Amino acid sequence: MKNDPLLQPLTIKNLTLKNRVMLTSHEPAYPEDGMPKARYRAYHVERAKAGVALTMTAGSAAVSRDSPPVFNNILAYQDEVVPWMRELSDACHEHGTAVMIQLTHLGRRTRWDKGDWLPVVSASHHREVAHRAYPKKAEPWDIERVIQDYVDAAERMYVAGLDGLEIQAYGHLMDQFWSPLTNELDGPYGGSLDNRLRFTFEVLSAIRARVGDDFLLGVRYTGDECLPGGLDVNDGMEISRRLKNSGLIDFLNVVKGHIDTDAGLTDVIPIQGMPSAPHLDLAGDIKREVDFPTFHGAKIQDVATARHAIASGKVDMIGMTRAHMADPHLMRKVIEGREEEIRPCVGANYCLDRIYQGGAAYCIHNPATGRETSMPHTIAPAVTRRKVVVVGTGPGGMEAARVAAERGHEVVVFEAADAPGGQIRLTAQSERRREMMGIIDWRYERCQALGVTFHFNVFAEQDEVAAESPDVVIVATGGLPNEQALTQGNELAVTGWDILSGHVKPGRNVLVYDEAGDHTALQAAEIIAKSGARVEYMTADRALAPEVMAMNLVPYMRTLQVLDTTFTPTFRLVALRREGDELVASVESDYTRVGKERRVDQVVANFGTLPMDDLYESLKPLSSNQGAVDYDKLIVGDPQPIVKPADTAGGFQLFRIGDAISHRNTHAAIYDALRLVKDL
Ligand SMILES: Cc1cc2nc3c(=O)[nH]c(=O)nc-3n(C[C@H](O)[C@H](O)[C@H](O)COP(=O)(O)O)c2cc1C
Ligand code: SF4
Repeated sequence: MKNDPLLQPLTIKNLTLKNRVMLTSHEPAYPEDGMPKARYRAYHVERAKAGVALTMTAGSAAVSRDSPPVFNNILAYQDEVVPWMRELSDACHEHGTAVMIQLTHLGRRTRWDKGDWLPVVSASHHREVAHRAYPKKAEPWDIERVIQDYVDAAERMYVAGLDGLEIQAYGHLMDQFWSPLTNELDGPYGGSLDNRLRFTFEVLSAIRARVGDDFLLGVRYTGDECLPGGLDVNDGMEISRRLKNSGLIDFLNVVKGHIDTDAGLTDVIPIQGMPSAPHLDLAGDIKREVDFPTFHGAKIQDVATARHAIASGKVDMIGMTRAHMADPHLMRKVIEGREEEIRPCVGANYCLDRIYQGGAAYCIHNPATGRETSMPHTIAPAVTRRKVVVVGTGPGGMEAARVAAERGHEVVVFEAADAPGGQIRLTAQSERRREMMGIIDWRYERCQALGVTFHFNVFAEQDEVAAESPDVVIVATGGLPNEQALTQGNELAVTGWDILSGHVKPGRNVLVYDEAGDHTALQAAEIIAKSGARVEYMTADRALAPEVMAMNLVPYMRTLQVLDTTFTPTFRLVALRREGDELVASVESDYTRVGKERRVDQVVANFGTLPMDDLYESLKPLSSNQGAVDYDKLIVGDPQPIVKPADTAGGFQLFRIGDAISHRNTHAAIYDALRLVKDL
């Protein structure tokens, strides 16, 4: 353990980092009024307590007013930020974790209709596809004031007691100056590489002059834009050398790619099904060539890969950011030799996709992340041991069983299938989404270690459950596809599940109709298109699969576009009829009520699920609470009241969670389970 490369300290100037694992900068969109208050602090402290060496706080903390927050960023341009950052850094320092912050001006990567409604500024008029704002070209007075803004923001962080900061330079204003694709300035800031880097070095010199030599400065930048006409790897190498030789900074933090499109962003921050550690070699090449402290992180999900990154000498600090969102105690488990207990990041990217929709970053299978002030990462034992029966082993049921077992309860689980997983088993049928099984496998292993009893191949009914004499019953039976949504011809459609499970073979000419907008229909479309069939994907929504969200859509589009899938938004499937060998689909638009037809040989319909609630309904009369949940108590984290009406004296408490209530998603099911069961 002592020789673990990950656990060796690293000293840069006066700062000793106690090990080699860091959180790279990431804005989880937790600020309140632009400030990192209690929730933000609790998130970082939880990870600091467990032993991470360095947390690069914020993500794109804004230095200027014309860099308004696009995902609820910290407003580093306000003096009010100082006491909040001081509280955060003091609290992390108490646990020996170094604290830095990423500062930025977003340039064109924001919107003019946020914050103060100022025009967006960049080094050209080219707009960024992702945020859609056409920028003004920076004038000399813009450059002057933004340099001043960087310096003032840096000073605020220095005064707040941080150990250092990094400047963001991939996709933001800084490298919009660097890249020939986004710099069309004349004069001292445009043209040659020297000129395009001038702004950066002016910012760094001015910051250094203000904060002195001991405060660490770094740059997180792209070493290769991977875009025709953009900065290539040779430019990246040259920029790396110049950054080092400037004598102004203390570390490099290497990124690869471009983030101006959803597709580009997804290559920079790969999601499930994409290769692990894809940019580590570039970071390693830069470190070898430039010989300077180098940080890096991009889909280093597991400890073995992180260890390799350090042991091979490719980088000095390795980022495990989403890995720490999934398991904040990752480092404690490494230090204590309990790596097999780490809750794995399954690359679902629910966290990141949510912030681009204006939400807070939540981990798909750790609902306590971002809710540290109300949800526990460590489950406290119950005062009274009770018997808990859980029915169903989808993500919600497995979480309920795990949390109940961690509380010390006696837990019995019934599952109709021969293995745990529920809907996740269907999802994981696709090679690209196989990592999702980590959600189930991790819980199953925890449950086994905690002595939970599983009964597979049992379709539990009222008698089986009652025979256990439970104190609490949790129904997590999930849902089944809604097959009754059409006005005519419901029996002629198949469901997305039929295709995913392989029970129904793809047709040759297929209409995939998606009303739920989640992964199911797209995943089915992918399977069908890959089989060689012609696919039209239709949805009544005006956007494709809104529940799938931006980065998760990328792999689907990459498959479906290549296979010539047709996309038809804003049309609704209404009815089906058979005519000879063909199915005739009647579709109409909410906008015009114009009716159209499609002639195909297969229709796959995704209308979401309806709850499988027979068991729940049959248990209600035996229960003491008739299935009722006290929402007020649930929300504030108080135990559910144990009511014993005279006629059901001795009855168990009955609850249902997840899709057994209504069609939602994996996170919702797991959160239902955690917040209910942590207090049972
Ligand atoms: C919710 C979230 C927000 C992020 N915001 C930023 C950001 O503002 N600036 C930045 O440089 N990187 C940001 N990142 C990227 C991370 O720093 C990191 O590069 C990425 O998650 C890949 O590393 P990982 O696989 O260890 O998570 C963000 C990541 C997440 C998950
Ligand atoms: S949501 Fe997915 S990618 Fe994000 S931390 Fe959780 S498991 Fe990892």
